[in-house]
Amino acid sequence: MNSDSAKSALNLQTAEPKSGIGAVPMWLVFVMVLLGYRGCVAFENVGGTFNPKLYGPYTSASDLQAYLVKSPEEERYMLGKKVYAESCSGCHQNNGLGVAGQFPALSGSEWVLAEGSGRIVRLVLNGIGGPIKVKGVDFNNQMPPWKDVLNDDKVAAVVTYIRQNKEWGNNLPGVTPEQVAAIRKKVADKADFWQAADLEKINVNE
Ligand code: HEC
Repeated sequence: MNSDSAKSALNLQTAEPKSGIGAVPMWLVFVMVLLGYRGCVAFENVGGTFNPKLYGPYTSASDLQAYLVKSPEEERYMLGKKVYAESCSGCHQNNGLGVAGQFPALSGSEWVLAEGSGRIVRLVLNGIGGPIKVKGVDFNNQMPPWKDVLNDDKVAAVVTYIRQNKEWGNNLPGVTPEQVAAIRKKVADKADFWQAADLEKINVNE
């Protein structure tokens, strides 16, 4: 092979690319739009990876309202949790298990888990002292009255909280401030604290 023909063979292989503007193929534009759209759908489906508690995927105004506005029952439970932390947990403890020999448990207590709240509301209003049996364990101590400290809303809230505390495995009907007000009226003349024996004579539904 002579050098000329070798050169022209080389030229053929390394032909200079031409500069200029070519049209983007339509199929590529189409695929890119489709991928972009699919990406947005995927992002939307996982809540945009934002924390749903902070950036709820609300699709309507009523969705948002349901999230922001709590029912009166939920509000009462939340208030009860606060009242419990402030007024009760010092003795009965956060876990509701009390302190052996001093403060009885509320978690699993037959006093808390009674069918109605007649006794427990009275007990919170006036306090209780003397011998009492809770979950088969005897106590003989004293709990202060709350009638001058907690209003009807707060008594209803804290009783609702301990009767419905799911962490303690409870799920009983709560109490309304109206029910507390009615009981407060009935025991308005009672100045001292309750004895367990007297409280046991009270119908739990009254
Ligand atoms: C200063 C400590 C103390 C505080 C604070 C206290 N309690 Fe008590 N509580 C007791 C004691 C002591 C008894 C048992 C009384 C007895 O021995 O007769 C008791 C008994 C009870 C009982 C009946 C027994 C049982 O374990 O189920 C309930 C219900 C109760 N308390 C609820 C509450 C609630 C609700 C609050 C907050 C509003 C509260 N207590 C705050 C000390 C306390």
